[in-house]
Amino acid sequence: MKPCHYFLSPLFVCLLILPTSWANAENHKLNIICSAAPATCNVLRDSFVSIYDIPTNIVRMSSGEALDFIEKDSRSNNPTDISFDVWWGGTGDTHLKAVKNGLMHKFVSSNKTLLGWSTYLSDISDGNTVGVYAGMLGIVANKKVLTAQNLDLPNCWSDLGDPKYRGQLIIADPNTSGTAYTFLSTIFQIYDPFQRIQVLAEIKENILKTPKSGSDALLPVASDDAALSVAFIHDVPLLEYQNPSLAIIIPCEGTGYEIGAASILKSTKHLKEAKTFIEYTLLASTQNVLTKKIALQMYSNANTLSSPVYNNLKDLNVINYNFNIYSRETVRNDVLSTWNNLGNVD
Ligand code: G6P
Repeated sequence: MKPCHYFLSPLFVCLLILPTSWANAENHKLNIICSAAPATCNVLRDSFVSIYDIPTNIVRMSSGEALDFIEKDSRSNNPTDISFDVWWGGTGDTHLKAVKNGLMHKFVSSNKTLLGWSTYLSDISDGNTVGVYAGMLGIVANKKVLTAQNLDLPNCWSDLGDPKYRGQLIIADPNTSGTAYTFLSTIFQIYDPFQRIQVLAEIKENILKTPKSGSDALLPVASDDAALSVAFIHDVPLLEYQNPSLAIIIPCEGTGYEIGAASILKSTKHLKEAKTFIEYTLLASTQNVLTKKIALQMYSNANTLSSPVYNNLKDLNVINYNFNIYSRETVRNDVLSTWNNLGNVD
């Protein structure tokens, strides 16, 4: 089965700091690590609590950061006091890696209206994670900043390495960010081993800074402080309202995509509530609230409204992204060490 085909099928179709945190987590019944945008995490928690009356705490971590935390905590002789129950959102390859390390609790949703790409993730993980949303990666440019410096728009991933863009590029740290890891593994899947090193070395030369999360990497571009970033394109329209100079480019080589996942952690002490939470997030009624104005991904329920971003997109130039391979420990280590060894961002 090829995930790419699901993506192309017709059915495929504010940043807030989280107020609750580690400090009062033990008062809650359900503890959730959320790797989606903070606004999504907050809306899900608030609506879930108001319907089910289950005290719920959400901690926001980027995808790679969450994976690292879960892996280290499971190995530690001195694990954190909080036992997390659910990991919601963030790129599916990080969830799959945790599955491969035996850190998830098997849970197959009883929802019969999930799209093929959502159950695909469940199938390849032997029922240990499920797809909740999906989105395409792209280059995000600020036309005003580029014009002010007499620079044109890039068309391809390789253009991001052009010396004329020196100091203009913000890409998150792929060690912590699922967005940036998806970018790296996209380059790995497009270019041969020799070319990829060259392309990535040139791109890294142009980077101004590397925030922890993909959504944070977009902010300097949205505030006219940098010209270029790499992001999931559904994160752009909400910023475009404030800054119409933003433009999305689907790179000429083709682009990667994510299947954002939800999983129950093996360490859960509240299995029933954890299942209730994930089932709740798979309902069309829950996803419709998100897709209308909170986060414009494609969502996994066939009855959820189409994403205004992807519905109108003419250019679906996606690569056949291999989630299975790029979630393997050896491959992830290789991808990250290739990047880490290319020298530091100034
Ligand atoms: C944003 C996107 C999500 C994506 C997440 C990954 O929130 O809207 O679709 O899963 O970033 O975040 P990360 O911090 O891991 O790059």
